[in-house]
Amino acid sequence: MESCAKGFDQLGDMGTGASVAVEGGLVASPGKGQAWEIKATSVTLIGAADQEAFPLQKKRHSDEFLRAIAHLRPRTNKYSAMFRIRAQLAQAIHRFFHERGFFCIHAPVLTGSDCEGAGEMFRVTALGPGALGPEGVKGDFFGKDAFLTVSGQLSLEPFALALGDVYSFGPTFRAEPSDTARHAAEFWMVEPESAFADLTDNMNLAEDILKYCIQDVMDHRPDDLELFAKWVDTSLLATLEKLAAEPFERIPYGEAVEILRRASKKFEYEAAFGKDIQTEHERYLAEEHFKKPVIVYDYPKNIKAFYMRQNDDGQTVAAMDVLVPRIGEIVGGSAREERLDRLTARVTEMGLDMECYQWYLDTRRFGTAPHAGFGMGFERLVMLATGATNIRDVIAFPRTYKHLEF
Ligand code: 4AD
Ligand code: MG
Repeated sequence: MESCAKGFDQLGDMGTGASVAVEGGLVASPGKGQAWEIKATSVTLIGAADQEAFPLQKKRHSDEFLRAIAHLRPRTNKYSAMFRIRAQLAQAIHRFFHERGFFCIHAPVLTGSDCEGAGEMFRVTALGPGALGPEGVKGDFFGKDAFLTVSGQLSLEPFALALGDVYSFGPTFRAEPSDTARHAAEFWMVEPESAFADLTDNMNLAEDILKYCIQDVMDHRPDDLELFAKWVDTSLLATLEKLAAEPFERIPYGEAVEILRRASKKFEYEAAFGKDIQTEHERYLAEEHFKKPVIVYDYPKNIKAFYMRQNDDGQTVAAMDVLVPRIGEIVGGSAREERLDRLTARVTEMGLDMECYQWYLDTRRFGTAPHAGFGMGFERLVMLATGATNIRDVIAFPRTYKHLEF
């Protein structure tokens, strides 16, 4: 910069983080690692950054440190790239469904029913602490129990049975008290639901959307991906290219359990038919055994939700999970039980409140049709695309167990 530039005397106040206006000509830069520089004729300080207190330095900071200053971390190269990729993926999802003729449905966030039946719900109340009177929840805003939704699925099914192909893409909430790198209390879920679709259609759709989204980031944000490939995971681009190009593996749950039982690897939890597949198992299958995404299907009915379509073997349901390297489960879905008698029997068997599900059963009572859908964790998709290993690093202001800052 030439010393005659207007405002040059203020340069001392223009430290890291300051906001400035620079006027001048763009010229080829002789400097390393940059193609251009500005030959300034004037510089103006717009907002100074207190250099004593400003926490970001011109050096690499740890992810843990940056999490503690989540309001400033988007100013770093890494996190600005992260949130551009997240935005790109969100757009890709809507475009994918639009191109395929799916209609976007806005599922409610406040709900009176527990879709997954897992009971990991946040309660919503308008009452102050200790204000529950003698009439109990009847005295609360809705006059009944109210929660934040864990999934938009039950709201989507009636729309699939009316419009054909629909989806929702919105916030979901789970009060899982597990402090893992893959679980958030507030996360976004992508949920397609299709009429006249079976489990195979569902698996095809899940594979297609994952490939589409990953290809879209590679096509539109190559520079941002490059940063993650350089600093976060050197095998990232090879992993993404393989994911977009090669067919996913597909195996029944029973076969997955066999592979896990034969594995020489020592697991914390033993794999056994009838037991849930743990994250360590999921990662082993995708990362080590198949070295690519794998779709596991036909799970035992006793470990899955009531709405999943019962298979003829009487043991399993037409469920599927997509497992990917480094993350494990990214998609969970199923064909839905469309037969009224079977569904009613399952609601009873699982001890669910029949009253609560009357409207849902109506969709089977009046012109039922085979249908299927799934939920894809949006944050897990961003983790997959960037190589990020902690879900807290792909959410603007993460909400996790015992953490609600900003
Ligand atoms: O497998 P899940 O629980 O499926 C459902 O909720 C179905 N009702 C969806 C449907 O069929 N429409 O959740 C779907 C996906 C998981 O595979 C995972 O990627 C993500 O949502 N997910 C979470 N992501 C972040 N934090 C959490 N606590 C998550 N719980 C689930
Ligand atoms: Mg699941």
